[in-house]
Amino acid sequence: MSETRKIALVTGAGVGMGEAISRRLAEDGMAVGVLDINAEPVASVAQAINSAGGRALPVVADVSDRDQVEKAVQTIRESLGPITVLVNNAGVENFTAFAEIDDVNWDRILAVNLKGAYLVTQTVLPDMLELAWGRIINISSFGAQIGAPNMVHYSASKGGLISMTRSLAQELGSRGITVNSIAPGFIDTPMARRAIAGNKLPPVDELVRAYPIPRMGRPEEVAAACAYFASEEAGYVTAQLLGVNGGTAV
Ligand SMILES: NC(=O)c1ccc[n+]([C@@H]2O[C@H](COP(=O)([O-])OP(=O)(O)OC[C@H]3O[C@@H](n4cnc5c(N)ncnc54)[C@H](O)[C@@H]3O)[C@@H](O)[C@H]2O)c1
Repeated sequence: MSETRKIALVTGAGVGMGEAISRRLAEDGMAVGVLDINAEPVASVAQAINSAGGRALPVVADVSDRDQVEKAVQTIRESLGPITVLVNNAGVENFTAFAEIDDVNWDRILAVNLKGAYLVTQTVLPDMLELAWGRIINISSFGAQIGAPNMVHYSASKGGLISMTRSLAQELGSRGITVNSIAPGFIDTPMARRAIAGNKLPPVDELVRAYPIPRMGRPEEVAAACAYFASEEAGYVTAQLLGVNGGTAV
């Protein structure tokens, strides 16, 4: 892989899976633009990567805002170079019974989880087209595969990402760009801990007991799947959905 192929952008990189994915791609030799809506966590992720001998640049943007996305992507391009690996990981959750979801709630979940991926991908794509090489990885959810009560808006947004992945893979396959998605199961991150603390889910022990691998997943296990899709070796793998879920969803 040439140096110019090693520049990644990870969204939602301040904590949880985005942090683990950023660290892993940096360990694999990529310079990483770490983007988040929150400045402080993403600054500390970048600092940790840089102190460990990697290369990372923190950028702050709301992925649902085109202007902010364009500015952030331009900052990364100017500092690190053209972006050829994109991980659309930023996401927000919400637990509301379907009948009580209002338009503001619905629109925000869709805006971050689905429109955000559209905006960031469209903004980054010219770099990949120019180099005729790229890797796009969309972080969906097992909720899109098996359903999730009180998360109809969330699971709809994540199902949209799976469809977007397949369609975009067809458009870009002949241009040297692969597009894949990962559907994480129940992964130990701040998002999952918020749900547990807020009693939005059954107790963890009860929940994971039914899984073929009866435990929560680790962010690093999602990062490893990401690293594979981002690698040179995965050049003939596109339009795929990989569950990292302990066997929960089939
Ligand atoms: N944790 C799970 O069990 C689980 C399961 C399936 C899918 N997912 C998905 O995996 C992804 C990562 O989840 P996580 O558990 O690490 O979440 P998290 O809430 O722990 O972290 C998400 C990060 O995204 C950032 N973010 C939120 N809105 C943003 C926006 N508008 N613009 C930019 N950044 C924004 C947050 O600041 C945070 O740093 C999400 O898309 C989530 O929906 C999580």
